[in-house]
Amino acid sequence: MPVTALVSAKSCGVTTAGLALTLASQRPSLLAECDPAGGSIRTGYMHGTATAGYGLYHLAAAERVGPDALARAFASHLVSMDEAGHRKLLPGLIDPAEAAALGRTWPTLAEVLHVLSADAGYDVYVDAGRLALDAGRLHPTLTPAALLYQADLVVLVVRGTEQSLSLARHLIAPLRAELDEHGTGGESLALLLIEEGPYRAHQVAEALAVPVLAALPWDPSVAGFLSGGGRVPRGYGRSPLLRHARTATEQLDAAAQRRRIHNQWPQPAHAQIAGVLKRLTQTQEGGRD
Ligand SMILES: Nc1ncnc2c1ncn2[C@@H]1O[C@H](COP(=O)(O)OP(=O)(O)OP(=O)(O)O)[C@@H](O)[C@H]1O
Ligand SMILES: [Mg+2]
Repeated sequence: MPVTALVSAKSCGVTTAGLALTLASQRPSLLAECDPAGGSIRTGYMHGTATAGYGLYHLAAAERVGPDALARAFASHLVSMDEAGHRKLLPGLIDPAEAAALGRTWPTLAEVLHVLSADAGYDVYVDAGRLALDAGRLHPTLTPAALLYQADLVVLVVRGTEQSLSLARHLIAPLRAELDEHGTGGESLALLLIEEGPYRAHQVAEALAVPVLAALPWDPSVAGFLSGGGRVPRGYGRSPLLRHARTATEQLDAAAQRRRIHNQWPQPAHAQIAGVLKRLTQTQEGGRD
């Protein structure tokens, strides 16, 4: 299953899409809220049920002990978004100033996320927030660059509006160059369209010269619930946003598999971290029975 990093030029719906995809996936799924500008799910969708004792920031301290310690800490800092525990969240930063401590954490976290997807069969989504560039390079603190470099897919979330496309246009070339140089290749870059505005998927793909892998409908009430919390909207479970999100998870998975087959990549081997996660996955499964 793929690791998909979601990014935007500016507030296009990354967090909402990340939640919709994670909640709609037919497989076990995880959303890692890694927006350096701070997380919003803890106080929004999760209604404050994930306390400050959990989350991304604690992984920085664990990483200083070693990758094995981070892998152990990782599992204990996830919170369940459903009763069965199949949809997990790594809650994001409470204070954006904490992002500076995570520079060394991103590469190991990227490896753990890959193990979770490859070994434990999770659909992994990363909310990587707004892209920040510094002299054409991904900013080392304001963007979790290592997570983008190691993702199977880097998905730029755009809306079908002039405003959104004109902001996104400037990011494509430097992002592709960065993924070519440091990542798994510029072709890991793709678009997710939020269907607001006049432009359709084929027009967006043509305008930005990047494939649109999936689209989510404009659905203010369900999106507002996902991004801000509050009362469950009427028809939530059967809503267009969640139904299309389910289709989108399959489209993203298929695209990642095509890349893997085309590039003839072997499954990644992370023996040390894989062992830790396997033990933890078995413990959790044992606990559920
Ligand atoms: N599919 C959608 N339909 C309607 N409204 C949407 C949709 N997706 C997102 N929104 C709304 O757009 C606003 C921004 O969404 P969201 O917070 O997910 O964006 P973001 O890219 O994570 O922003 P930021 O970079 O500020 O974290 C929210 O009010 C949200 O409810
Ligand atoms: Mg966000």
